[in-house]
Amino acid sequence: MTKHISNNHETVSAQPRLKQRAPEIQAYGTVSLNLPLELEQPVRLEMTEQLNQLLADTMTLRDLYKKSHWQVAGPSFYQLHLLFDKHFAEQAELVDGIAERIQLLGGVSIAMAADVAETTQIERPPRGREELPVQLSRLLDAHQIIIRQCRTLARRASQIGDDGTNDLVISDVLRTNELQVWFVSEHLVDVPLVHAADSPELARERKASA
Ligand SMILES: [Fe+2]
Repeated sequence: MTKHISNNHETVSAQPRLKQRAPEIQAYGTVSLNLPLELEQPVRLEMTEQLNQLLADTMTLRDLYKKSHWQVAGPSFYQLHLLFDKHFAEQAELVDGIAERIQLLGGVSIAMAADVAETTQIERPPRGREELPVQLSRLLDAHQIIIRQCRTLARRASQIGDDGTNDLVISDVLRTNELQVWFVSEHLVDVPLVHAADSPELARERKASA
């Protein structure tokens, strides 16, 4: 027989209470009223709203890197498979940093894929596999959207006194994205792999075959 112990009119039991639901304790798009951060509520509201946009786009770029990591094809498969996963991990770190900044400012971070999909500004790729140049172009387009946002958001943050957000956006998000753009864009430079374009050998071969 189960023995129920009464405590504050609640029944205490060793059984897990499953399938519970209750109203939200804080709505998305709101911030806590009073926090000892020396940042007024309107400032925190504006910053969390903009950080949520940056978060949705960063989560999308993170996932685009994993898609590219899995679906890449061609002679540079191994190298790019590893590079894409490295960038994925770095973007995942940024996601956590941005989300936790939103929470510490008293806001609510966007989290689930469906909400992210509705919010992101990054173009949705097809489910299927695409050629490498297309994968690389999509990644660079996504980086560009994020980098543009970073600059605007960082300037606004310092203008309204949120130096912490300014620092996160510049030191972490912007710098990481700039570096990743370099590593990705170098793969779109069309340089010869074996023969230098104007090598005497190539010229001789051309002449011989003419
Ligand atoms: Fe993997």
